[in-house]
Amino acid sequence: KPVLSEVSFSVNGRRHQLELDTRTTLLDALREHLHLTGTKKGCDHGQCGACTVLVDGQRVNSCLTLAIMNQGAEVTTIEGLGGVDNLHPMQAAFVKHDGFQCGYCTPGQICSGVAVLEEIKAGIPSHVSADLTGAMTATEAEIRERMSGNICRCGAYSNIVEAMIEVAGG
Ligand code: FES
Ligand code: FES
Repeated sequence: KPVLSEVSFSVNGRRHQLELDTRTTLLDALREHLHLTGTKKGCDHGQCGACTVLVDGQRVNSCLTLAIMNQGAEVTTIEGLGGVDNLHPMQAAFVKHDGFQCGYCTPGQICSGVAVLEEIKAGIPSHVSADLTGAMTATEAEIRERMSGNICRCGAYSNIVEAMIEVAGG
């Protein structure tokens, strides 16, 4: 028998109070309960990155975190980054550089991309070896390493990197 629990968090600036089965992932809470279907379910076990959202500004695979673990959090999904009339600069750059084909991975790529540029700015180290990167700048190697958790079956990787370099000002 499911155990229900109350959880409250904010999504794209709106506070929500939900009563959920304690096993509900943040991904399912967003898609099935709040009907924010921009966030995609690919593998549902942390391998593809399609479900990436921002939780308190950090990127998270929403299939790997239970909704009730996010009590009080500020969640941002692709719908909260920008819309048709007010694209986020990362969304606009993906359009300009053709950073997608089928689009299934794209919300996760864009949420990850936004967080990656913040990680680079904040000097949070990645695993790229020093001789590849040198300084903490948004180089192609740096971006490819940091984005390696976001899989694109269509292979739009080089255009995604170009989009991110443009937003980073490179
Ligand atoms: Fe979450 Fe694939 S659906 S990582
Ligand atoms: Fe199709 Fe990435 S655009 S999976």
